[in-house]
Amino acid sequence: MSTPVLQIAGLRVEFPGLLRTVKAVRGINLTVTGGTVMGLVGESGSGKSMTAMAALGLIPKPGVVHGSVKVDGFEVVGRRDAELAPLRGGEAAMIFQNPMKALNPFFTVGEQMTDAIRCHLPFDKKAAIKAAIAALESVHLPDPTFTLDKYPHQMSGGQIQRVMIAMALACQPKVLIADEPTTALDVTVQAQIISLLRELVATQDRTILFITHDLGVVASLCDNVAVMYAGEIVETGSVVDVFADPKHPYTQKLMNTVPRLGAGDQNLNFIPGQVPDMGFPPKGCAFHPRCDQADDKCAASAPDYMIFNNDHKAACHRLDEAP
Ligand SMILES: Nc1ncnc2c1ncn2[C@@H]1O[C@H](COP(=O)(O)OP(=O)(O)OP(=O)(O)O)[C@@H](O)[C@H]1O
Ligand code: SF4
Ligand SMILES: [Mg+2]
Repeated sequence: MSTPVLQIAGLRVEFPGLLRTVKAVRGINLTVTGGTVMGLVGESGSGKSMTAMAALGLIPKPGVVHGSVKVDGFEVVGRRDAELAPLRGGEAAMIFQNPMKALNPFFTVGEQMTDAIRCHLPFDKKAAIKAAIAALESVHLPDPTFTLDKYPHQMSGGQIQRVMIAMALACQPKVLIADEPTTALDVTVQAQIISLLRELVATQDRTILFITHDLGVVASLCDNVAVMYAGEIVETGSVVDVFADPKHPYTQKLMNTVPRLGAGDQNLNFIPGQVPDMGFPPKGCAFHPRCDQADDKCAASAPDYMIFNNDHKAACHRLDEAP
């Protein structure tokens, strides 16, 4: 039986303000088991990054976190920065959207990689260099020894993202969190990085929380998927189940936004209506202002989850109605 590596329970992230409190994450539960890839999808502002940041105890002030996040059994919520230092980049590594900002421009790739490795693993300098070279080889950077002496400005965005992936993996994390790791790259490079991640998943048995807007990437990379809307998970399950039979009206609409080959422009849909202001999330089901199946009950009360086969579940009042 696979062990849970990342366990999120009742997670809430709020940013109190003078006139309103932004409720970025509103009570989510999510488990990523060892050796699996969980895709976290949803529109901009739905709370994906705040979930990822909470997993590493990185919510910026004045953010407040409630609930529980456990990485390999270690509770993250409520810890001080000093207690979280071994976790960040060690047990849990993160790859960010903009690789250019993630490396320090004043140090070489080699200095930064060996520092990170030695910070988390009991390696001497020689062993750290060896591990860095092996990691750079695994992400297919040509001439790893030469790459170690480079400064970030001497590399392309795609090469730097490969370095970031290598650096994250070299520290042997229990879980890797990738927050839209290809968004800042051009389309061809995006495809190359996704293909690299797919290869690493297939060959290295990695546990990954993969955040993306792109359902196509979820289909090709992930085992399970969680769909977020307005700080909540509205549907979750295996990729096979959710893609074959999306239950929640929001998931169904999200699926319709994926362009299909040869289907023509009419299928390039977007979801009508505005993403809610998380200072004032809608009452009841948060999706009701945009849902064409909404009725009075939807505006009045929040739906519970209904469970289908194999942990496939969705929260919608209309699911218990006969098809
Ligand atoms: N420092 C902050 N102060 C106040 N509100 C914040 C802060 N950071 C994020 N938020 C709000 O929290 C909500 C969730 O943001 P988050 O960054 O998690 O969205 P996301 O799903 O990652 O979106 P995107 O796809 O655009 O990256 C948004 O409404 C955002 O405006
Ligand atoms: S609960 Fe109502 S508003 Fe929400 S998704 Fe279901 S039908 Fe639509
Ligand atoms: Mg984000």
